[in-house]
Amino acid sequence: MNQQKPKVILTRKLPESTETRMCELFDITLNETDKAFSREELEAAIKAADVLVPTVTDKIDSDLIAKAGKQLRLIASFGTGVDHLDLAAAKRCGITVTNTPGVLTEDTADMAMALILAVPRRIAEGDALARSGHWQGWSPTGMLGHRINGKRLGIVGMGRIGEAVARRARGFGLSIHYHNRKRVHPETESELEATYWDSLDQMLARVDIVSVNCPHTPATSGLLSRERLSLMQPSAYIVNTSRGEVVDEKALAELLAQRHIAGAGLDVYSAEPDIPSSLRDLSNVVLLPHIGSATIEGRLQMGDKVIINIQTFWDGHTPPDRVIEAML
Ligand code: 8YV
Repeated sequence: MNQQKPKVILTRKLPESTETRMCELFDITLNETDKAFSREELEAAIKAADVLVPTVTDKIDSDLIAKAGKQLRLIASFGTGVDHLDLAAAKRCGITVTNTPGVLTEDTADMAMALILAVPRRIAEGDALARSGHWQGWSPTGMLGHRINGKRLGIVGMGRIGEAVARRARGFGLSIHYHNRKRVHPETESELEATYWDSLDQMLARVDIVSVNCPHTPATSGLLSRERLSLMQPSAYIVNTSRGEVVDEKALAELLAQRHIAGAGLDVYSAEPDIPSSLRDLSNVVLLPHIGSATIEGRLQMGDKVIINIQTFWDGHTPPDRVIEAML
């Protein structure tokens, strides 16, 4: 067991109580400004830290990892997705990587469900009209959207979050269809009355709403390509709370503009924080600034997970949320 406290560097500002606890346990360097680190700042941090705590806004690629100081033993990421980290490079350098899975599931599924409701029911447009001062009052044909009840939801990626979306969607009368690398447990399938589609293409052509819930990995990068998006029905909607890179954003914007796809609800983008104007200019999209997991409760639990991962590792044990490339 290590007697000395680890030198831990946080790249962003974390919740106050998380930082307070970390200050008690570790030799901590905070980022009071919360401004995302520049490449130079990341380099300095990775050279100095025993443990680096990055977030989704830090690209920890192989070039950067090659510059890590010999003492860097752990990258304890604050977040579930690990696509900003080069896991293979970390492994080559003997650096352990951890994340914070599980505690964001319900919040992210809530946000997916919120978008599933918001887009067909035109909630953002309605809000804008109500605030504008131009609302002329109720009308039989005013602001008509489409019914959710009785429609088919196609979930791309039936992991923890996909399943949590399915449970919510059932309550809104949607039938569940899904595509996943492997079928879920037969009990879960029958409980959700879910239909498994081995072929993503066939599922896309047949569902009314698509929810993207798979992680971004080399296998899912660009999974919803122009060709695949073109298979969707013109009356269909798509919601993405996973990662922008899973969807061909340019193609999506074009198909939405031409009404080859009826609408989209997006919380994530391929080059955050940039959101292309081709998407921002459309009235049939609801855009959120990557807030799927943004609840105080969730952030505190993420902080707890990071602390446990660091402490366990520093005490010489395998941290509970160790990420192994083969798991992805
Ligand atoms: C997190 C996320 O808030 O955990 C993830 O994968 O996408 C987010 O919701 C973010 O990654 C924090 O680093």
